[in-house]
Amino acid sequence: MAQALREAWPRTKALGVRFNGSDWVEGGVALDEVIAFGRALHEMGYDYLHLTSGGNVARADIPGAEPGYQVRFAEAVKQAVPDAAVMAVGMIFDPQQAEDIVASGQADIIAIARAALDDPNWPHHAAVALGQGEGLPPQYERAGKAHWPGYGR
Ligand SMILES: Cc1cc2nc3c(=O)[nH]c(=O)nc-3n(C[C@H](O)[C@H](O)[C@H](O)COP(=O)(O)O)c2cc1C
Repeated sequence: MAQALREAWPRTKALGVRFNGSDWVEGGVALDEVIAFGRALHEMGYDYLHLTSGGNVARADIPGAEPGYQVRFAEAVKQAVPDAAVMAVGMIFDPQQAEDIVASGQADIIAIARAALDDPNWPHHAAVALGQGEGLPPQYERAGKAHWPGYGR
């Protein structure tokens, strides 16, 4: 199935797989299986591996309240398959937190869900917060509240 999909999808378009680093139940997927799965996909030519975790079974006890609670799975795959582009997700919302995950080599790409729904311009705001707001389209350069004439008076 994964091979057939790889062959069918154009090489000019990114193709990745989002899969569980844990099912959060005893007897669920084990980390060595997760790593083997990721390695096989990478060797098959998948462009990125996206590590999540989830509720495959109703009794799963998911510790979703902790910032970056799934990064450990991305990190484990990244360590084992360093040439793969690995994406982390789950309670990543702060620009510096995202930057640290990438800078430390735990993952190569950050995915955000709720933070993007809450603020669709999150990438722009994160770039500005990290001091990398240069090169934005001109209309955005004056969009920040600090540039609004009269704001805060
Ligand atoms: C109760 C719960 C169930 C989840 N189930 C799944 C799932 O079935 N599949 C999945 O890919 N991710 C699942 N996730 C994890 C997601 O990777 C992650 O929480 C989601 O993408 C939200 O990202 P955000 O924290 O940036 O909003 C689950 C998370 C929680 C807290």
